[in-house]
Amino acid sequence: MKTILNKQIAAMLEETDMIAALANVSACIFTSYENLNWAGFYFVKNDELILGPFQGKPACTHIPFTNGVCGKCYRDKAVMRIDDVETFPGHIACDAASRSELCVPVIVNGEVIMEIDIDSPFRNRFTEAEEKEMLAAAEDIASAFSRHSWKI
Ligand code: SME
Repeated sequence: MKTILNKQIAAMLEETDMIAALANVSACIFTSYENLNWAGFYFVKNDELILGPFQGKPACTHIPFTNGVCGKCYRDKAVMRIDDVETFPGHIACDAASRSELCVPVIVNGEVIMEIDIDSPFRNRFTEAEEKEMLAAAEDIASAFSRHSWKI
């Protein structure tokens, strides 16, 4: 059973332009989850992570694969649900107010092609149910990427 948010995101992914679709997906996440200070995308491009569509304050534009929560998400091809970013070695504080973070890889043909990244100014903000919801969103984004022949 898809959650309402997953259904809304699936509807946004009917849009055939990648930036237009993902801009709306970031807005959908940012306005649906409470207590966030940032929600958006990083694209895997030229062997690093590059800022994509997002909602929130301006953020780091380039993140090496070696750094931060986003870099570890890329290296491990795994979700990072960090309850307290101040205890995460190498966390990149784009916004000093951030306290917890959920970073989810979007995987196509076994490769991470982008990440969904979400920040909160509160510790322990993200639940296991939300992690699953964002994993389902990442799978829908991966199918839209292939279906619409998107390119990064
Ligand atoms: N905190 C991330 C950087 C991206 S911002 O949160 C938008 C990290 O440690 O990789």
